[in-house]
Order: sequence, then C-alpha cells, then structure tokens
Amino acid sequence: FGTMKINELGHLEIGKCDSTDLVKKYGTPLYVMDETLIRDNCKLFKTNFTSKNIQTEIIYASKAFLTLAMCTLINEEGLSLDVVSGGELYTAIKANFPTHKIYMHGNNKTKEELTMAIKTGIGRIIVDNKCELDLIENICKAYNKKISILLRVNPGIETNTHEYIKTTKNSSKFGISIFDKDIFNIVNKLNSNKYIDFKGFHSHIGSQILNEESFYEEINVMMNFIKEVSEKCGTTIQELNLGGGFGVYYSKKDRPINLKNLLKNMLDKIKSKADEFKLPYPKIMIEPGRSIVANAGTTLYQVGCTKKTHSGKHYVFVDGGMNDNPRTALYNAQYEAAIANRMNDEKEGIYTITGRCCESGDIIAKDISLPHPNIGDIIAVSTTGAYNYSMASNYNRLPRPSVIFVKNGNSKCIVRRETYEDIIKNDLPL
Ligand code: LLP
Repeated sequence: FGTMKINELGHLEIGKCDSTDLVKKYGTPLYVMDETLIRDNCKLFKTNFTSKNIQTEIIYASKAFLTLAMCTLINEEGLSLDVVSGGELYTAIKANFPTHKIYMHGNNKTKEELTMAIKTGIGRIIVDNKCELDLIENICKAYNKKISILLRVNPGIETNTHEYIKTTKNSSKFGISIFDKDIFNIVNKLNSNKYIDFKGFHSHIGSQILNEESFYEEINVMMNFIKEVSEKCGTTIQELNLGGGFGVYYSKKDRPINLKNLLKNMLDKIKSKADEFKLPYPKIMIEPGRSIVANAGTTLYQVGCTKKTHSGKHYVFVDGGMNDNPRTALYNAQYEAAIANRMNDEKEGIYTITGRCCESGDIIAKDISLPHPNIGDIIAVSTTGAYNYSMASNYNRLPRPSVIFVKNGNSKCIVRRETYEDIIKNDLPL
C-alpha cells in the first residue's frame, strides 16, 4: 500500500506516525503529507537533472499543492516555484519565497496579477498570447520596470493521457502554435522591446504522462524549432522550459517512467541536438508538480456506514468525498485504499468507497478489495498529495479537511480544518 509501513498493531504508519493516533489527534477527513518523501522527491530531481555543460533549474508547479509551509519546504530544497494566479503568487510572497525564483503562468492573467508580478520582481513571466504582451508592456512602462519572459509555445504533440489534462493538441487553449505563421514576427518584436528581456520558450505537453517517448518527442520538436528561430530571427535562445507532467503510480495500471533515467536521457538528447545544430546549450528548466507531492499524500477518512444495494453492490460511506478529492469524478482516476486500523486482516470483498456529497458521481475509489469494513474503521486512500487539497471545494458546504505534515514520528498541522464559521465568513445577510 503505497510506500507506507504497517506497525506491530497492524496499523498503517505514515512518516513513522500511527495513522490511528493521527486520527485521534486531528480528526477526519485528514490529508497526511509525508514530509520526508516530499523532500526526497525534490532531491531526486535536484540530483538527477544536472549536467556538466548545461545549466538546469527545477521549478515546482505549485498548483499541485500549495500552502505557506509548502513554499518554505520548496525553498529549503532549492527549487523554484511556478504560480498561475494572484492567489498562488500571494501565498509565495507571504511565505517570503524569493520572488526572483518565481515563474508566473496563466493563459488569461489579469492586469492586477501582472502588476503584482512585475512590481514584486518575479523571475519570469511565461507569456501565453499576444494580448498579454501588450498588457505587460503597458505595466512595465507605468512602473519603469523591465521583465524577463518566456514565450509559451504549443509544439503540437499528442500525449496519451486524459483528455482534460492534455495541453498541446493543436486545438489546445495554451500558448502559441510553433506552426503559427506569426511566430517569427512575435519573436522579432520581443527582441526589440525595451521593457522585455526575451529569454526563450516554454512548452508543457500534458500531465500524468507515463510514456518517456513523449518527452523525447517534445525535445526534438522544441530543439528543431529553436534552430529555426535562431536562423530566421538571428536570436540565441537562452532558455528552454519543458514543463512538467511526469506521471506517478496511483494503481496497478500505472507504470511510471524511471525518473533518474528519463532526466538523464532528456539532458543527453538536448546536448546531442544542440551539438548537431551547432547551437549553444540553452538553460533547461522543468516544472514537476504531481511527481513531487502525489505519493507523499494519504487521505484518512472514517467509515460512517456501509450499504449493499439491491443489485449487490457494496458501498462504504466515508466522511469526505468529491469535495476533498474530485479527481475520480473528474478524470475517472483510480486510487488504492486500505483499512488503516486493520492492515493485516484478510480481504473479504470488493467495495466502492463513496463520500457524503449529494451526487452519484461522488466516488473516491472504485472496486477496492478490503476486509469487511466496520463503522468507525479508518479508510486510507493513497497517492492523494497532488491536486486533492488544491482542488478541494466546499460543495454541500462541507468544511475542507486539515492538512498535516508527518516526519520521523512527529506531526504538524499546516492547514487547520475549516469550521462552519469559515463556511459563512464571506456571506452577507439579505
Ligand atoms: N507546468 C505547467 C505549465 C502546467 O500546466 C502543469 C500542470 C505543470 C507544469 C505540472 O504538471 P504535473 O507535473 O503536475 O503533471 N488537475 C489535474 C492536473 C492538471 C495539470 C495542469 N497543469 C489532475 O488532477 O490530474
């Protein structure tokens, strides 16, 4: 079950903490993040995405999971930060994240967001479209600032992932197609703009990618494109950001790529392409989100009731739902689950774990083999560290769960549980 251990009481242990003790202390539902594992994941990228001749940078895609504590951790591990909204940027600023290490994304950034980014001196804005360029130029003029940018391009690669998380089909809303006739004009304009320091290109081909060839294809297409731009525009492309998307293990059908090999191969391929084209090596950035946090997260729930339908389907009702994990409903995601307080008991049946939202699609994990669940048992769902807390909602006015970090037998609350008062705090009377 995930990377976790079972202790002598037959209880699931996370970060050397007994999960039943965590439930006693913090209640359920509860997001438990294994801090050591997050740090190990950061280190894996830091140590393996390096090369003697190529400068590299690892930028954590904060949309996967962001809180003040997470910003501190990411900074301590020496990663940079990708934000896509004023809210994510504000969180980073409040956590004193060094602003020059922040990269700002978004296909429709507002004037306020861009102003905040430019005024606070963030490292790069990743520009999505032409309208945004005008907006940036005006803001820079008003504040007499110059900003470094990358241009997001769409290399037109089809990846084998869920339709909703593909990003570089030719019809995608993100970036400017490398086949767009205007692209060289845009680069020329950028090069002559005194408010903009054009550094290079960004592309992100999708998320939860389990096939290494997709990344190599991205590198081929992007390096060919860089060669073409260098020739047609006479510019040296200093930076290439290849985005994130490294897939993780959720259930038996997922076979993640060996990251160490992949990262090394990616840099080797860039080197050989640049050598072939006699181009200087650009600085290479990647933006992992899911692969930093997904496997570090476990959600703990308590069983309220079980039900066998007339058709013979067994349901386990838990005290969370699609409000704390919308991924099953949205993407048909598959999760693994276990009874955390009876890890060694024999499995007796196939159960579907569902929550308390008023909706049939409110499913957390489908067809899971479990011992017969009893009222009060603790259900643990693994690999919930990415895009769970960050996509949680207050649907049905359910308060969002607490998030805790666990490490070496200690636990620390990093997001307190919402209260009913939190739920109504922005409501105004009629
Ligand atoms: N960079 C860019 C520009 C992105 O759009 C994304 C993710 C990433 C990096 C990080 O990708 P990762 O390494 O996490 O795969 N909510 C969906 C995932 C949406 C991903 C959006 N962009 C899910 O729960 O599967």
